[in-house]
Amino acid sequence: MTVPDPAAVRATFSSVARRYDLANHVLSGGLDFLWRAKLVEWASSSCSGKVLDLATGSGDVAFALRRGLPEQSAIVGADFCPPMLDQARAKCERLGLDPIGNQFVEEDCLSLSFEDDSFDLVTIAFGLRNLSDRPRGLSEMKRVLKPGGKLIVLEFSQPSLWFRPLYYLYLRGILPWLGWLMTRDRKAYLYLGGSIASFPDREGLCAELEEAGFSAVRSLGMTFSVVALHEGSKED
Ligand SMILES: C[S@@+](CC[C@H](N)C(=O)[O-])C[C@H]1O[C@@H](n2cnc3c(N)ncnc32)[C@H](O)[C@@H]1O
Repeated sequence: MTVPDPAAVRATFSSVARRYDLANHVLSGGLDFLWRAKLVEWASSSCSGKVLDLATGSGDVAFALRRGLPEQSAIVGADFCPPMLDQARAKCERLGLDPIGNQFVEEDCLSLSFEDDSFDLVTIAFGLRNLSDRPRGLSEMKRVLKPGGKLIVLEFSQPSLWFRPLYYLYLRGILPWLGWLMTRDRKAYLYLGGSIASFPDREGLCAELEEAGFSAVRSLGMTFSVVALHEGSKED
């Protein structure tokens, strides 16, 4: 099992930050837009208050939430990699979004500076897999959620059995070279494949959310369960 090293993770995302969005859209075949849209659909059915998007990276989830949630909701994007946050802030300016309504701050998911019970919704997309200590990260997410608040996780999962051979061939044989073509960093995409392979399946992640104290846990596989949405609530 790959346990991510925080310094290496930060260095990896610093290295690919400028080309991250392009690589993301190309390597997912544009499916990342659909996955984010589903996250926003789940979020909008339950939230109109304070939202924290963790491991926000270049901010695409935060921007999608900004568009999909009521205007009065306040969205904070947090990440521990300054070059990724720079991309998010630059995009905020390009899109003409109000920087106050859409803040980006430097934070480590494993020791958040926010007070207990601060947010109505916490989201994390393709970030949980990168945490060196998932139980600690989940416990921090629960701590900063208000009672009754929700956590939504969008993350790679383990695909349907019949699809696995093809998928792992793509992850191990093709993705690192495609990643290299776009970012000149093949190691970053070898890391991506390794971290996906050692991430739990839907059942396993649901169990981790329950162990972390979340209730009403549910999940939804997308694209043959290559990725999945998970949701859990902090009890009142
Ligand atoms: C794959 S990117 C996902 C970015 C964005 N959420 C998206 O969906 O495109 C993972 C992000 O997690 C961030 N990250 C990893 N570990 C973190 C930690 N402990 N605290 C904060 N951010 C972290 C990285 O810096 C990177 O920007």
